[in-house]
Amino acid sequence: MKTFLAFFLVAASAQISFAALSYLRYNVKDSILREPPLRQPIPTADVIQEGWVRQRLDNFDPQNTQHFYMRYLMNSEHLQEGGPIFIFVGGEWTISPGMIRAGHMFDMARNLSGLMIYTEHRYYGYTTPVPNLEMDNMRFLNIDQALADLAHFIVYMKEQIPQIRNSHVILVGCSYSGTMVTWFMQKYPHLAAGAWSMSAPLLAKVDFIEYKEVVSHAVTTVGGEQCSGRIRRAIEEMEAMVAANNTSEINRLFRLCDPLDLTNQLDVWSLFSDVAGPWSGMVQYYNEFYRDIEDPCENLVAINATSDIEAYAEWLMNRWRIRDGYCYDHTYAAFLDDFSGTNWDDWVARSEWRQWLYQTCAEYGWYQSSGSEHPDFIFGSSFPADFSLQWCHDLYDNFFTPDIVHGSIDRTNVIYGGLNPNVRRVYSSHGEFDPWAPMGVRWDINDESPTVILPRQSHCSDTSSISDRDRPEVREHKERLFQVILRWLEEADRNQPNPEAKKH
Ligand SMILES: *[C@@H]1O[C@H](CO)[C@@H](O)[C@H](O)[C@H]1NC(C)=O
Ligand SMILES: *[C@@H]1O[C@H](CO)[C@@H](O)[C@H](O)[C@H]1NC(C)=O
Ligand SMILES: *[C@@H]1O[C@H](CO)[C@@H](O)[C@H](O)[C@H]1NC(C)=O
Ligand SMILES: *[C@@H]1O[C@H](CO)[C@@H](O)[C@H](O)[C@H]1NC(C)=O
Repeated sequence: MKTFLAFFLVAASAQISFAALSYLRYNVKDSILREPPLRQPIPTADVIQEGWVRQRLDNFDPQNTQHFYMRYLMNSEHLQEGGPIFIFVGGEWTISPGMIRAGHMFDMARNLSGLMIYTEHRYYGYTTPVPNLEMDNMRFLNIDQALADLAHFIVYMKEQIPQIRNSHVILVGCSYSGTMVTWFMQKYPHLAAGAWSMSAPLLAKVDFIEYKEVVSHAVTTVGGEQCSGRIRRAIEEMEAMVAANNTSEINRLFRLCDPLDLTNQLDVWSLFSDVAGPWSGMVQYYNEFYRDIEDPCENLVAINATSDIEAYAEWLMNRWRIRDGYCYDHTYAAFLDDFSGTNWDDWVARSEWRQWLYQTCAEYGWYQSSGSEHPDFIFGSSFPADFSLQWCHDLYDNFFTPDIVHGSIDRTNVIYGGLNPNVRRVYSSHGEFDPWAPMGVRWDINDESPTVILPRQSHCSDTSSISDRDRPEVREHKERLFQVILRWLEEADRNQPNPEAKKH
């Protein structure tokens, strides 16, 4: 997920606008929208088939006969007749072959002689159901439609491929697609024997203050008090300068292209949001072997400066590579400029931001806001959820007012049940350092739906194969999951209602 969006980021992506005069203006947004990581070698043998399945544009309107083609990837190299079907469900990203060529799902599917499939979510990647992303065309983008696509996909594929006609389906998803597989088991339990839901947020919420709380906790725990203290003090110093109406140091240290205009609240929020931004990606995809928090913290602490704000600004300018001749465009206007555009080949569509942001406005909220009262909180109070609500309003034809967004979020929780999903056979996993975890179920849903919290793990960090690098808790979790899936498959076989379909 995009993190701030939902679910999902690692490195700061710097975007260059060439509209500048004497220097290059950088508008920096950390991009968390990406496919879940699979940090292990991936074999390159060409065994992946790509396919397209015809889907209804509107699964809920019998009078709408428009169609589109949904992309999927498939690996059948280990399939034997009747073997299970493992579907890794794509979320708000472009699918790629890695997930069905390696990783824990791959290992389980191979060991069970199963088929592996990776589905692409409508409106993402190459699955483009509408001519462009103008507001009127966004209406068919929602999880209700995506789950119905998946339901039809399963039925259709079983009809098409004789070896899997009587096979059982195991769904796997992570982040937003973890949400999808959990809710699929609620809506379409007849179509899957069980689901592994990784790092899934289930409670829609506008003011997602918990996200940066977890980021604060992880930075302090992993990076140490020196690091988190420096971040906290730097942001406090910035906030004090803003409060005192003296922004000259901020303009200079952060190399702002245009001086900070305190009468423009959106610019102030935008600056503070960007300044806190890099830590979200580091924590969300933290991996201890790659020292994703340790190294940046060591760099920050090592800077010899007269004040914390000076050290922090130096660290940030290095990270964003804003050096001499470059400036940082913090303005809300620059953001709007980058994020506008409604064509499939516009950056905002290719990066999948326009689609995902729309889903947050129309379904989930999940705005990673500042202002927590928690004593460990290090990011101040200068980027409230109102800032993100403004994006909803400005990027989609002024349709989304705060009231409409709040109503959309309520609708999602009414339909899907928030933290009380009525599901069976869903195995949930979360990481202690995953900022998304507070929006998920962190307890067993019921006897058939266990949940595990993995210490010091982050978002979607359990996708990879069992290895010597796994902490004991992680290894145990992966082994137990395999046993749970074996049990689900046996039960599905036993409970097969159609005697014709029973395996012999
Ligand atoms: C799959 O089988 C191999 C070989 O028996 C074994 O090493 C591996 O741990 C198994 N993987 C899983 C997920 O059970
Ligand atoms: C800050 O400066 C602005 C414009 O110069 C002025 O209108 C405002 O009253 C000042 N606020 C404070 C707290 O000094
Ligand atoms: C603003 O702050 C800077 C350093 O932070 C200081 O040198 C300067 O005197 C201040 N200006 C005013 C008008 O207070
Ligand atoms: C940091 O700066 C102080 C004062 O300028 C200096 O004495 C000290 O040697 C510097 N430390 C490092 C590690 O550069």
